[in-house]
Amino acid sequence: MKKNLGAITAIAPLPVFIIGTYDENGTPNAMNAAWGTQCDFDKVFILLGEHKTTDNLKIKRAFTLAFATPETLEISDYFGLESGRKTNKIEAAGAHTAKAKFVDAPVIEEYPLTLECEVVEMQEGDDEFRVIGKIVNTIADERILNAKGEIDHDKLRPLSYDSIAKKYRILGETVGSAFRAGLKIKNKK
Ligand SMILES: Cc1cc2nc3c(=O)[nH]c(=O)nc-3n(C[C@H](O)[C@H](O)[C@H](O)COP(=O)(O)O)c2cc1C
Repeated sequence: MKKNLGAITAIAPLPVFIIGTYDENGTPNAMNAAWGTQCDFDKVFILLGEHKTTDNLKIKRAFTLAFATPETLEISDYFGLESGRKTNKIEAAGAHTAKAKFVDAPVIEEYPLTLECEVVEMQEGDDEFRVIGKIVNTIADERILNAKGEIDHDKLRPLSYDSIAKKYRILGETVGSAFRAGLKIKNKK
């Protein structure tokens, strides 16, 4: 028996992105954003309300996108609890930043994987901004790379946001190979 649950936020996993920006004075800020995704090979999409981050994006047209991990869970959640309009969250979290090499945005050193992005679209809706960023660089700690130099998600352990339970989770085990698992059926025809 199936039940109709209406329009709810059932999609999982949602990511836990940490969006890093500078304001007009070069003060770094970070916010937690789960409503986003990769939307092309070199682009990301994020849906943002009105925040210090959107003020900063309008000025700088650039951001970093870091991946929250179990080690950075506490600061990552904190970045979603308070606004940079009132508090210097980077200082309050005891986090460390350096200017990104390719965009005018801060890299938060505590995170093992960070994308440097330029804003290519920022559409304003009624009470939201739809932002598309072009990835111009990816910065990875060596410890999260495999022997081939690729990102290893078992080492990175990126957090996911479960918006039903309001919990952070980590990716589970591998259960199959994409573009291969269905070949048995395809080749039977
Ligand atoms: C788990 C989690 C996910 C969030 N996802 C989003 C999101 O996708 N978009 C958004 O606008 N705010 C989101 N927020 C809320 C912002 O992070 C929060 O309003 C923050 O204070 C904004 O910071 P700022 O004003 O310094 O930019 C999320 C918060 C949490 C804890």
